[in-house]
Amino acid sequence: MKKILKIGHRGANGYKPENTLVSFEKAIAMGADGIELDVHLSLEGHLIVIHDETIDRTTNGKGVVNQLTLQELKSFRIDDKYEIPTLGEVLDLVNKRCFVNIELKNQDTAEKVVELIEHYISEKKWNKEHFIVSSFDWNALQQVRFLNENIRIGVLTETDLDLAISFARFMKAEALHPDFQLLTDEYTSKIQEKGILVFPWTVNKAEDIQRIKLFNVDGIITDFLDRV
Ligand code: G3P
Ligand code: CA
Repeated sequence: MKKILKIGHRGANGYKPENTLVSFEKAIAMGADGIELDVHLSLEGHLIVIHDETIDRTTNGKGVVNQLTLQELKSFRIDDKYEIPTLGEVLDLVNKRCFVNIELKNQDTAEKVVELIEHYISEKKWNKEHFIVSSFDWNALQQVRFLNENIRIGVLTETDLDLAISFARFMKAEALHPDFQLLTDEYTSKIQEKGILVFPWTVNKAEDIQRIKLFNVDGIITDFLDRV
């Protein structure tokens, strides 16, 4: 059987607080081939690694990410200890030890993410294979493609796989990232026949992981890397 890439969802979400530097370090220590993270913009336009639009669920603060400055965001704590990281901080921590799946939570982040990826490739000797940009917001992905035709794109979907396949082909996407519950053996082959990788999310239960592995997917996005 071919190697299935292990992609740590929000880092090592099953073991450490999501989207924190310790979570990404833990994922790498657990043998991640890639880490997945989510980005929003701060008030002044810094790329902030956080899942929700607000800081309410994951930190000791309250407020909307894009209405807070970087300094304000940095003053809050996750689990009383950890700062909300910027995307640059995460990339410097990862330092090419695995690839980084950047999920754009909205269109506003597209231009800044492209700029940052281009900077790491031209100035810090990262390769395009170190990055994959995904989003449920397909307009955001079109913006990325318009700005840079080489950045690897992952089309996220939780509804219509056929539509996602058409869009992925149109976009010359590297991968399709379906909700694992949509995926079948047949769909996996259909996507791969078109030269597109299949990275289902978020597969956590051991029995689901075993079932999805039998489809021969290319990677699995999971909170529990050790189960893959
Ligand atoms: O990238 C796959 C997965 O992260 C999408 O869902 O809500 O965990 O960002 P969510
Ligand atoms: Ca995500």
